[in-house]
Amino acid sequence: MNEPLLKLDDIRMNFGAVQALRGISFTVGKGEVIALLGDNGAGKSTLVKIISGGLTPTAGRMTFDGRPYTPRSPSEAKAQGIETVYQDLSLCPNIDVVGNFFMGRELTRNFLGLKFLDERAMEEATNRALGDAGTRIPSMRTTVEHLSGGQRQAIELNRFVHWGGKLVLLDEPFAALGVEQTRRGLEMIRRVAAQGIGVIIITHIMQQAFQVADRIVVIRQGVVAGDVRARDTNADAVIGMITGQEAAGTGQVASA
Ligand SMILES: Nc1ncnc2c1ncn2[C@@H]1O[C@H](COP(=O)(O)OP(=O)(O)O)[C@@H](O)[C@H]1O
Ligand SMILES: [Mg+2]
Repeated sequence: MNEPLLKLDDIRMNFGAVQALRGISFTVGKGEVIALLGDNGAGKSTLVKIISGGLTPTAGRMTFDGRPYTPRSPSEAKAQGIETVYQDLSLCPNIDVVGNFFMGRELTRNFLGLKFLDERAMEEATNRALGDAGTRIPSMRTTVEHLSGGQRQAIELNRFVHWGGKLVLLDEPFAALGVEQTRRGLEMIRRVAAQGIGVIIITHIMQQAFQVADRIVVIRQGVVAGDVRARDTNADAVIGMITGQEAAGTGQVASA
């Protein structure tokens, strides 16, 4: 958790006259879970899009794994190991779990000079990866449309880990999920982080932030209004950082 995986330095984003981000700096360590909090319109989604290559910042620098990081598209970010797992999912509903897990990376074997998909090897690998992650899916041959939101999220997140992901971004990942699925999702995030992967999760539910995060970063009107270890702060203090009122004396509240 010491060596920064991602470093943001004075990131700015203008949309015409709107200054959505006005100089954002913070780091994400390996295996660290950051909860990104802030009121509606604070700039959270904009920042996530910049990190995942969907938007190019107006100004500022990013480094990833110690090197300058300037993704020009989400696929470039993904190739370097940074990906957003969206609430509206990137899985193909009418394709089974194995097909989705190996999408674009199918294993083949040669037989008499012809290429065949190695379905058995892919099924075994998918089963192993999801099983190790503690995900219960009855059959790897079920099409994804028949799975719950929580199971789909598990497939996406574990696919990311399996293919060498290093930093995952989640924007309100549990908004459509029930209590039990959310609890499993939070546990899964901790397991992912325990493998050295960095996690940035946007949530507006304070309790979730405290359940899952090592650090809480608060964005207010495009600036970092707080960056504190979760164990060193409390909900009242964080609400103060979000609203800009009375910070209850805990945490480092920047005068923005
Ligand atoms: N594509 C865009 N064009 C113009 N303004 C935008 C665009 N995207 C976001 N904004 C503005 O930038 C600010 C931050 O938005 P956003 O990042 O979505 O906030 P959050 O996710 O914290 O609710 C808001 O004022 C929003 O209206
Ligand atoms: Mg948003």
